[in-house]
Amino acid sequence: MSTIERVAVIGGGLMGAGIAEVAARAGLDTVVVESSEDAAKNAAQRLERSLHRAAERGKIASADEVLDRIRVTTDLEQVADRQLVVEAIVEDESAKTALFRRLDEIVQDPEAILASNTSSIPIMKLAVVTSRPQQVLGIHFFNPVPVLKLVELVPSLMTSDDTLARSRAFVEGPLEKQAIDCQDRAGFVVNALLIPFILSAIRMYESGFASAEDIDQGLVLGAAHPQGPLALADLIGLDTTKAVAESLYEEFKEPLYAAPPLLARMVDAGLLGRKTGRGFYTYDAR
Ligand code: NAI
Repeated sequence: MSTIERVAVIGGGLMGAGIAEVAARAGLDTVVVESSEDAAKNAAQRLERSLHRAAERGKIASADEVLDRIRVTTDLEQVADRQLVVEAIVEDESAKTALFRRLDEIVQDPEAILASNTSSIPIMKLAVVTSRPQQVLGIHFFNPVPVLKLVELVPSLMTSDDTLARSRAFVEGPLEKQAIDCQDRAGFVVNALLIPFILSAIRMYESGFASAEDIDQGLVLGAAHPQGPLALADLIGLDTTKAVAESLYEEFKEPLYAAPPLLARMVDAGLLGRKTGRGFYTYDAR
């Protein structure tokens, strides 16, 4: 089994920068591809900030040493020699399929793995636009990537056992994450369980059954959750929560996945949680 030493991350946003950071911290040669010069500058700054913070906290010896292993570019051709590419661009099916078509043309190694960090787009849709569907799978990280240990590995019906085994070796080896295996179904394991739980809490609050504070305190003090479901929804972002709920509902047509009206109204109003300063709670403007 060939070891993966050269990786690329496409999209250097919240998730892509985190994935690039853990790859470079693991000693891997890492290329980050962004869509514009401005976005590339933001990605580079995000990486620098996060790595300097990690160095200050003593988690790494030197930020510069890690940054030396990362190249941020807008030129997709730079991924030609990569052994693994993780796509982490916007959650848009046509943008992702267009990218997978290009990656299939550009990436030269016939054994290279083309992975997606998508939360809701079927892996099969990305696999079938390439000439190597057996080497396409989902590698789904959690935010913040440098902190959270979990990775969901999502083979499609066409992913080979070898691709799955090499991907597992990659995330559990150098990246020091813990992998769980999931079917290529909306929500995988974590969101398929977490989102209906959050939606139930929103319905409970919406019906006047209990206050937001009491719902959250109930779960924190009564079930040892680190934070309550409404505070968690504010952290994830209510727009993201609603979007994931919709993709689950679209896939399974189960009422438990249907976004409650209050969630839709809050998103319409721009009350998206922490990032806009108000959701189920209010937050200091940052
Ligand atoms: P984001 O909006 O922070 O980052 C996306 C980045 O992709 C942006 O910097 C954008 O400039 C770049 N981009 C867009 N089109 C591109 C292209 N064609 N080529 C290169 N770069 C391009 O989004 P975020 O939150 O990082 O999400 C990325 C992916 O990760 C999505 O598929 C999302 O579903 C998934 N995801 C998100 C999680 C989260 O908590 N935000 C958790 C797990 C997965």
